[in-house]
Amino acid sequence: MKIIRAKDYDAMSRKAANIISAQVILKPDCVLGLATGGTPVGTYKQLIEWYNKGDVDFSEVTTVNLDEYRGLPRENEQSYWSFMHHNLFDHVNIDPNRVHLPDGTNLDAEAECRHYDEVIRQLGGVDLQLLGIGGDGHIGFNEPGPAFDLGTHCVDLTESTIEANKRFFEKKEDVPRQAYTMGIKTIMQARKVLLVANGAGKAEIVKKAFFGPVTPEVPASILQMHPDFVLVGDEDALALI
Ligand code: F6R
Repeated sequence: MKIIRAKDYDAMSRKAANIISAQVILKPDCVLGLATGGTPVGTYKQLIEWYNKGDVDFSEVTTVNLDEYRGLPRENEQSYWSFMHHNLFDHVNIDPNRVHLPDGTNLDAEAECRHYDEVIRQLGGVDLQLLGIGGDGHIGFNEPGPAFDLGTHCVDLTESTIEANKRFFEKKEDVPRQAYTMGIKTIMQARKVLLVANGAGKAEIVKKAFFGPVTPEVPASILQMHPDFVLVGDEDALALI
């Protein structure tokens, strides 16, 4: 595990974007695993800026996102498909055919999850997986509890995740109750994993996940076992380690 300290959110975002750009420069046809949530927005902004300057080219890149709400159509403003388009894809030269997210409108969970795993398998796996971390240690929508050996699967969101995500919806009742998520097994198979964390609100969980025992009760703790795991955090998130 490698830990990179950044002084604030902007510096964290630049460092994370640097690592992603390096990946794209070294392997232009790489597969990037991407995340939504508040933390990576600055990273995506930075990548867009460097794309506009001509420093990074996404024309051969393929992306697979971590997760999508079950039941939300792509066009819904709160779908992760919309999030990724607003925050990154619409602003860079990525080929729309190379963008993959679980299909929230396929309500046949088993078929959709199997299909998504097959997409990732056919792409040859993920070269670099970007992650955020939830206050309870979740990565993707892998909440505390389930085993470490799952591929893509359907999850019931916990109360704390619904609570955390309601800021993106008009009201709490609008937050979908289920999601399709890459499993921990899929995440661990990525050749490189980059986790970004910022703010004092993440300090406790960062300490618990990366300096505590490896346990399914803290899903992110498994990353301690990944051979190429980088944590980039700002001072506040890394304050306790
Ligand atoms: C996003 C995702 C989640 C978030 C996590 C942190 O695709 O799967 O695991 O990374 O909930 O969210 P933020 O960055 O909003 O604190």
